[in-house]
Amino acid sequence: MNRKTYCLLAIICLLVFSLQAVCFAEAPARLPNVKILATGGTIAGSGATSTTTVGYTAAVAPVDALINNVPELKKIANVSGEQVAQIASENMTNEVWLTLAKRVNQLLAQDDVDGIVITHGTDTLEETAYFLNLVVKSNKPVVVVGSMRPPTAMSADGMLNLYRATILAGSKEAVGKGVLVMLNDTIHASRDVTKTITDRVDTFRAPEIGPLGFFTGDKPEFYRAPLRKHTTDTEFDISRLNALPRVDIVYHYANNTGVVIEALTQAGVKGIVHAGTGNGSIGKAEYPAIEAAQKKGVVIVRSARVGNGIVARNGEANDDKYNFVAGDNLNPQKARILLMLALTKTNNPQDIQRMFREY
Ligand code: DGL
Repeated sequence: MNRKTYCLLAIICLLVFSLQAVCFAEAPARLPNVKILATGGTIAGSGATSTTTVGYTAAVAPVDALINNVPELKKIANVSGEQVAQIASENMTNEVWLTLAKRVNQLLAQDDVDGIVITHGTDTLEETAYFLNLVVKSNKPVVVVGSMRPPTAMSADGMLNLYRATILAGSKEAVGKGVLVMLNDTIHASRDVTKTITDRVDTFRAPEIGPLGFFTGDKPEFYRAPLRKHTTDTEFDISRLNALPRVDIVYHYANNTGVVIEALTQAGVKGIVHAGTGNGSIGKAEYPAIEAAQKKGVVIVRSARVGNGIVARNGEANDDKYNFVAGDNLNPQKARILLMLALTKTNNPQDIQRMFREY
């Protein structure tokens, strides 16, 4: 073969290899598209001095300020923000919940949204997260995040919480895990997590059950997954709802006479969660008010003020006889959310008891 043919062959081989390299080269992984929906809270708060960690004003900074305050976000996701509300979360309402949930479902239905972060006050963060866990219709990650110190304080926790929540919302590991709560490097299931300490950064815990995982550096590590129904397995649909049935919580204590139950019945509640003593116990003096409420169609769920453990059916009360629903191990504020959504489908205590076993 003459020299000219050799050179021609070498050029052809080079072209073929370069073409292969271009065609089969791993496309650089694109950054995930994460939407940040802000509702207020301490993570958007402002204090008078760098040591003010109580007595500051919550819900001051707009979502774009939160994003601009963490320039590192741009390295781990394509983020954009929306201000859904600007409230201290003790003022959270069913109306904000419905607006937020509809917006979350609308965004997650878009192919150009990979995950959502919701910034929120810590007081009712667990409630919003659990509500969304029961009504979001996607397996894409939804991460609710807050902070215990305002951004103006030394060692503020919000920036790193937001950064890691955004990593989590864009991660494959978080897909299908239900709505998550991420603060203080710890990843929690929205069903299990609760605020346990009034003023410390390690306040969010899942007593008895524990977290789902942790952040080690910038990497989320999961060690378990939720078993109860959530998100894509939910039977609850809020897409056409503009209001939720009224459900309130009654706290039981020594010498309680049921007067609060009477007042709530008068106010027209559709359900009452009874935060009973011990294993969800109801005082004898409460029964007249309870039976009067049930005559008006009010559904009663037995929960427990102790906050941990399972309220056993037919344990400290005859649930079969009185048509009570045993609230499993949901704390009273979570039981209220499940009962509210259950009442959008049925007021049959047996069917609602099924829901408390499944969700
Ligand atoms: N007012 C409380 C709230 O918005 C402050 C607590 C916080 O956000 O950490 O939930």
